[in-house]
Amino acid sequence: MYEMTSAYKHWNKQWQSCRGRQGWTVPEPSVISLLPALKEKGVERILDLGGGVGRHALYFAAHGFKVNMSDLSAHGLDFARGKAKEAGIELSTHIADMATLPFEADFFDYVLAWNVIYHGNKRNLIQSLVEINRILRVGGFFQATLLSKNNYNFRIGDEVSKDTWVNSRVSDKAHPHYYCNEKELNALFTDAGFLIKDLEEVEQSLTGSFHWNVVAHKTSQYLP
Ligand SMILES: C[S@@+](CC[C@H](N)C(=O)[O-])C[C@H]1O[C@@H](n2cnc3c(N)ncnc32)[C@H](O)[C@@H]1O
Repeated sequence: MYEMTSAYKHWNKQWQSCRGRQGWTVPEPSVISLLPALKEKGVERILDLGGGVGRHALYFAAHGFKVNMSDLSAHGLDFARGKAKEAGIELSTHIADMATLPFEADFFDYVLAWNVIYHGNKRNLIQSLVEINRILRVGGFFQATLLSKNNYNFRIGDEVSKDTWVNSRVSDKAHPHYYCNEKELNALFTDAGFLIKDLEEVEQSLTGSFHWNVVAHKTSQYLP
């Protein structure tokens, strides 16, 4: 039996070493490119959910936003706090599972979850989407990545829950990952109370590493 939401244990180990953090300290171009829209819409409060070692949280804090970062990895949060201190910028960090976030309703203007919410099965993903919807204000921005069924890892290893795969031969795939196609992604976001503004399928650093890049807004219609 697999523990569905065990991914953070892998990442917690990875974040301890310089080598493990390599490639995870520079903000993503798709995140940076949202900055003008966030400024234009008067965004103030940001949550970097599953923020890793804080590359995006630190970026936004340096740009003057009020930034919170949550993760289940204590080592990742420690590293980010240290970097914030070094740079003399404010960053609030929280140990929290993505399905139960320690924030009040309608608090954030923008939530980012880069390479985070697909860790687990479809049920776990839905729980996170509903929780993100709860803490975001109506009209607020939600930016996330999800795994595409065109990704080369889809259907490799064991299917531990529908569309959820574990490949024990690859260390960062040895815990459950959920994959979806465009239609499924649209349904997941709509059902959780989001309106998709931009959706793109992109290869991340490796050839065939297809992910969905999504930017959405919280709609006012959703009643849990
Ligand atoms: C691939 S890393 C991405 C880190 C960061 N978002 C970035 O882009 O640099 C995934 C992160 O999600 C966190 N994570 C995994 N499962 C989690 C959970 N159930 N609750 C909170 N964080 C989780 C991991 O600890 C890890 O830091």
